Amino acid sequence: MKLDFILNGQSVSLDDVPTSATLLDVLRDHLKLTGTRLTCGIGMCGACTVLVDGEALSGCLLLVPMVAGRNITTIEGLAAPDGPLDPVQQAFVDCMGLQCSYCTPGFILATHALLKANPQPSDQQIKEYLAGNLCRCGSYYKIMDAVRLASERLHQAQRTS
Ligand code: FES
Ligand code: FES
Repeated sequence: MKLDFILNGQSVSLDDVPTSATLLDVLRDHLKLTGTRLTCGIGMCGACTVLVDGEALSGCLLLVPMVAGRNITTIEGLAAPDGPLDPVQQAFVDCMGLQCSYCTPGFILATHALLKANPQPSDQQIKEYLAGNLCRCGSYYKIMDAVRLASERLHQAQRTS
């Protein structure tokens, strides 16, 4: 099928995409955007999390007909080229909320969706929202710190703008 969608703010048009392909296949194999990670391939780990019209979804579960015309954000779309990191990315760096970083893009995008829906989540709400994202390095305490810091910074930025 012909697939048209918006990816990180740019229109993308691909020909001859199998309808059985997933969004994750398209990102990694067709477009070579490998920041979206493949681990389980069955919706269990959150490594492939992307934003679809602002909602955090598993790219490995989305067949291409489901994303036609949608607005997709991947980790590559957060920081401007050669520009500063996005505030959530920076909070993960500052809190060392990563070790091998394999899970990190998924956690950062899920955190974006969380803070958009709930700018000042409680610890319990953070844990519940991010429960679908797994970190095999066990960086969970630092990830919690990063989400809290991102929330604080975004809140402060809003108050001063
Ligand atoms: S690779 Fe998609 S949820 Fe694990
Ligand atoms: S930092 Fe290694 S899997 Fe999370």
